Amino acid sequence: MNAEQILKEMTLEEKAAFCSGRDFWHTKAIERLGIPSVMMCDGPHGLRKQEGEGDHLGINKSIETVCYPTAAALASSFDRSVMHRLGEALGQECQAENVAMLLGPGLNIKRSPLCGRNFEYFSEDPFLAGEMGAAYVKALQSRGIAACAKHFACNDQETRRMSGSSDLDERTLFEIYLPAFEAVVRKGRTRSIMCAYNAINGEFCAENRMLLTEILREKWGFDGFVVTDWGAVKGRAKGVASGLDLEMPGGPTATGEEILEAVQGGTLSEADLDKAVLNLLRFVETALEKREDNAAIDRNACRKLARELAGECAVLMKNEGILPLKEGRTVAFIGEFADKPRYQGAGSSHINVPHPVSALETVGDAVIYARGYDAHSDKTDAALLAEAMKAAKEAENVVIFAGLPDAFESEGADREHMRLPDNQNELIAAVAAANPNTVVVLHGGSPMELLWLGQVGALLCMYLGGEQVGPATVDLLYGKVNPSGHLAETWPIRLQDNPSYLNFPGEDGVVTYAEGIFVGYRYYDKKEMPVNFPFGHGLSYTGFAYSNLTVDKEKLTDRETLTVSVDVTNTGAVAGKAAVQLYVRDVKSTVRRPLRELRDFSKVELEPGKTRTVSFTLDKRAFAYYEPKVHDFFVESGEFVVEIGENCRDIRLSTSVQVEGTTVVSFTITETTTIGQLMKHPKGAAFIRQMLQKSDGPSDAAQAEAMGEGSEKIMQSMMFEMPLGSLVSYGRMTSKQLKGLIASLNA
Ligand code: BGC
Repeated sequence: MNAEQILKEMTLEEKAAFCSGRDFWHTKAIERLGIPSVMMCDGPHGLRKQEGEGDHLGINKSIETVCYPTAAALASSFDRSVMHRLGEALGQECQAENVAMLLGPGLNIKRSPLCGRNFEYFSEDPFLAGEMGAAYVKALQSRGIAACAKHFACNDQETRRMSGSSDLDERTLFEIYLPAFEAVVRKGRTRSIMCAYNAINGEFCAENRMLLTEILREKWGFDGFVVTDWGAVKGRAKGVASGLDLEMPGGPTATGEEILEAVQGGTLSEADLDKAVLNLLRFVETALEKREDNAAIDRNACRKLARELAGECAVLMKNEGILPLKEGRTVAFIGEFADKPRYQGAGSSHINVPHPVSALETVGDAVIYARGYDAHSDKTDAALLAEAMKAAKEAENVVIFAGLPDAFESEGADREHMRLPDNQNELIAAVAAANPNTVVVLHGGSPMELLWLGQVGALLCMYLGGEQVGPATVDLLYGKVNPSGHLAETWPIRLQDNPSYLNFPGEDGVVTYAEGIFVGYRYYDKKEMPVNFPFGHGLSYTGFAYSNLTVDKEKLTDRETLTVSVDVTNTGAVAGKAAVQLYVRDVKSTVRRPLRELRDFSKVELEPGKTRTVSFTLDKRAFAYYEPKVHDFFVESGEFVVEIGENCRDIRLSTSVQVEGTTVVSFTITETTTIGQLMKHPKGAAFIRQMLQKSDGPSDAAQAEAMGEGSEKIMQSMMFEMPLGSLVSYGRMTSKQLKGLIASLNA
């Protein structure tokens, strides 16, 4: 087919109708013109293909298939190749199942640990989320399947998820909530974006021209199509004019009447409608071109992959020499999740798995098992507890399988608190008191309060690790796989410590992102707050040393790139993978900035004793913040420190560079502009320097005598605080002269 040609042959009615779906999962066919309908399905960590009745809540049956680790787990791999392998496998499966588009990845920011859908999102850090998302998109699309990055944007909670407004400032939007989407557009070249249900600053995403056209297409160069989240459409004609292409799910009542009337009535231009139709036709065209009719899928190979990936994602958070478990020792597995693991979340991403594999099934009779708690209740069952205590006393090592039950986190409902169920907390505390060799394995999509952290010997977080989480856990516990995951989010001590605490989930359908850019570690680090585990933390059964940090230049402008190299050595006795993290710190800034920010990372596999050099290339964005005055990322000239860390609080090496910003921030000068502000204005700074040279004020010595030690600094800051208008009040010029000066500076 030829999209341009087809567009010319379509009637206005056909065009209007084409902009909504045929049913839950299909675009409309135009039989007269030979355009077939194509299918899209939920992902992102598996294929949720419904053949019977459709729904967007994960209720009705979908095909039996493989569930991979969820995004929360995947991000902890700090490994783009993990995303690549997953994307390719899902692409192959979509080909085999004749699905043209997979609805993922989910790129919303983990702003609060309470968001019910956190398990579907990558990180509190936009760079990490964007890199993982872009790798997934590239791999999926390399198999000819369109990705659909969602939910664009600021859909970071479930409370009022379909109708609320996320209110935030421009800098926060661009610095925290948009970069992951920007990365999948610019680097991943995603063919589709799903606009979110919610509004941003009062304007619904589905009809938000700034978001869907000015930012997405004009700034980032997106050339795919925008689909609504299921049922997110608001004004249909306004949507088209704003850059929304496809309404889903559509169905028999979605005839495009509103669009048709708007074009006929002159409130929507046909050219705008044509753009939307062409974007959609191009999607269908590519889907048909890339279609592989004979593709097949080997689900057993997929299960093997799911097990490997779960092993790459797990984070060993604490280990006081207990893990890996030594051969020949008696081990007790305690907790219902050992038998029935929690491995995915509820809602539209729910995958129909015929047989999830538990840790207990993997080890068989080799361990003592006690159920420990009832996962459907949070009350302690005395009999279950007694049985667990008996097992704990009998065994040399105990592994407790704990975490959030299904009812605690789900699409459509936020968590009420950050705790585990009471019965699990009681069980862990009691068992750990009875057996010092206690390991806790955690399942869940987001941080939990760890009341017993000091009492347990080891802690392994599997997040929601997919259907093979059981065998993957056993591989890690017994050292068959060396843990290499690192936290993609901070684990605070208490919920109250989280920066969004006072503004989550908002009131009356409005949530204000009052913490601004200080999300996750950007906040905890700036405030030097104690946390349970910092962003980027993850242990291994081996150790890594870093050396030879070098940069290819010590001075650069923001138009140049900086190459950074560092050697990493495996200093232990077993092979392992290091997650080398590169952070950048702005030494001095006139705006509020986080202490440091993650700017790149790399996963490196090393045999014992071996060293490898890792290189990174940094560009302007690594040093920039978003400056609303220029509506763009901006580098303030000065010193920056490039740091290599094991996590954001364990920096091993650092070196300094001078970066010169080449963008000039210009702004309108008025009588209330201070001398200090004027120093940042290109013409203003020149004027001040000239004025100071001519200054006939008291001599330095006279000043020092009058004001005492440090007077120079005080004088300077007093002067910097003076508004321009005071040049008149202090008799330096007439008000007419000042007006002339202001006009010439602004010219
Ligand atoms: C969810 C989307 C999902 C869609 C289709 C919506 O409720 O927010 O993530 O892709 O349903 O199931």
